[in-house]
Amino acid sequence: TQVGTTIPQANPVVGEAPGADKFITILYGSQTGNAKALAQGYKAKLDSAGIAAKLVNMADYKAKQLKNESHVVVIVSTHGEGDAPDDAIELHDFLSSKKAPKLPNLSFSVLGLGDSSYEFFCQTAKDFDKKLNELGAKRIADRVDCDVDYDDAAEAWGDQVLDKVQDELKAKGNSHVVAMPHIGKPSLSVATAQYSKKNPFTASLLESQKVTGRDSVKDIRHIEISLEDSGIQYRPGDALGVWFKNDPSMVDELLNLLSVEGEADVTISGETFALRDALIEKRELTQSYPSFATAYAEIANNPELNALLEDKAGLRVFLGERQIIDIVRQYPAKADPQALVDMLRGMTPRLYSIASSQAEVEDEVHLTVALVEYDAHGQIHQGGASSYLAQRLEEGGEVQVFVEKNDNFRLPESSDTPVIMVGPGTGIAPFRAFMQEREAQEAEGKNWLFFGNPNYTQDFLYQTEWQRFVKDGVLSKVSLAFSRDQEDKIYVQHRLLEQGAEVFAWLEQGAHFYVCGDANHMAKDVHAALVEIVQKHGAKSAEAAEEYLTALRRAKRYQKDVY
Ligand code: 2AM
Repeated sequence: TQVGTTIPQANPVVGEAPGADKFITILYGSQTGNAKALAQGYKAKLDSAGIAAKLVNMADYKAKQLKNESHVVVIVSTHGEGDAPDDAIELHDFLSSKKAPKLPNLSFSVLGLGDSSYEFFCQTAKDFDKKLNELGAKRIADRVDCDVDYDDAAEAWGDQVLDKVQDELKAKGNSHVVAMPHIGKPSLSVATAQYSKKNPFTASLLESQKVTGRDSVKDIRHIEISLEDSGIQYRPGDALGVWFKNDPSMVDELLNLLSVEGEADVTISGETFALRDALIEKRELTQSYPSFATAYAEIANNPELNALLEDKAGLRVFLGERQIIDIVRQYPAKADPQALVDMLRGMTPRLYSIASSQAEVEDEVHLTVALVEYDAHGQIHQGGASSYLAQRLEEGGEVQVFVEKNDNFRLPESSDTPVIMVGPGTGIAPFRAFMQEREAQEAEGKNWLFFGNPNYTQDFLYQTEWQRFVKDGVLSKVSLAFSRDQEDKIYVQHRLLEQGAEVFAWLEQGAHFYVCGDANHMAKDVHAALVEIVQKHGAKSAEAAEEYLTALRRAKRYQKDVY
């Protein structure tokens, strides 16, 4: 029942439906790059299996093309409260619209990336799966929703799809297999960077300095790391992945509470570790998640915890406020070492937007890190990676890092193009990199920074650097929003609105607009402010203003790095 399978073709690769010249199209929608990296890896896998595949970013995909496809795999992430990545928004909306064509000839499978701690876990993937099915397409394999430690689940999904496709091809006499499998390197494979998430570079901490004042409500650190002798190259907009270590004193308390020996041997992916080391380096302890609660309830055997598992909304609130140790303190139990390791998520590295340009700092990389610290359940709690970088790692100490490319957050190609940057709080980081880069390029383009934080005297991050950039003519304008220096809150979006006419004028001059920082509130409020600005100063309806911004996004002139 697949398209074009009966007519023998001279060229085995072009035996599909009109317009499609590869057997499988891999469509990815990625915000931070994970879905993209998986899609690239899957393309390489299909290539080496001799199956002709095409890799396409959803943002560059003509939605109408879907009806000409025979096989599509979708790899897409979900962010915040069920939001699609920017790249995926248009295709996602198209599939839900009346314009979406029937797809009776399409076979597909969806891989979702997300975080099961959130209510709308893998929502975007679920939507794609449902819509494609409703349009008449058939599933090659069931959708898999991956949690934050996605590697194994993604691999298993990929193998399953590949098996099914190979079976189908065998049944058809292999007419779609590339004649000469795997000639040379897969053209679109991941850049041949030597260091990666799985093979990080052991870097050393050069400096960690608190950059908020003594009386600040925040503790933000400027961190400098040496990449000397690594050969690592990064670009402004990229993030640094940091593999951190959990607090040993927290791990010791956990071992005590669970009556397990830290020296006990445990295995993780075939490798043996002492339990204590595994908990410090390999397991996620500073967040809690439903899979842990379910497995732990079995050994805790506590009616209250069992009841909680039946109440999804209640469980989410409960987990959202707790780290693993809080659950164990509240419902003590005796654990088996291996069982304990198995019920915990694998550690995932944290990504920090890079705050430096190599044009300025060469073999260093700088970060702007907020120390996550709060009081809860009678105890001080800290974020895993931020407390590692800010407190446990000593100057000269080793930290494992890798660069996570982010092509969704790049300076304009032309150094003459104006740039508007909105980065409150630690969202300032990539704009420090942007300005260092533009200064080194002697860029002619204008640059306008919007920054916000609670108090001017305490929280004006990199104040002297911005002042110097202004003095030297690199930075054309700085608009500040110190939210708590007056009775009523003033946020960056208020400053944007105040300067709406000029913001719109810059956009009309071709400016690129960047937003970095809080995804759930700030970025949404900034978007709403932009709509209002375009409406008012461009004399447009609300819909026309949204379309204006969609066009900007499509032209890669409206980019977000939000978390
Ligand atoms: P607040 O904490 O005083 O409310 C960086 O964190 C800055 O972003 C702070 O000044 C913070 O203000 C502000 N902020 C909080 N919510 C925001 C929102 N919805 N939009 C923009 N800025 C916000």
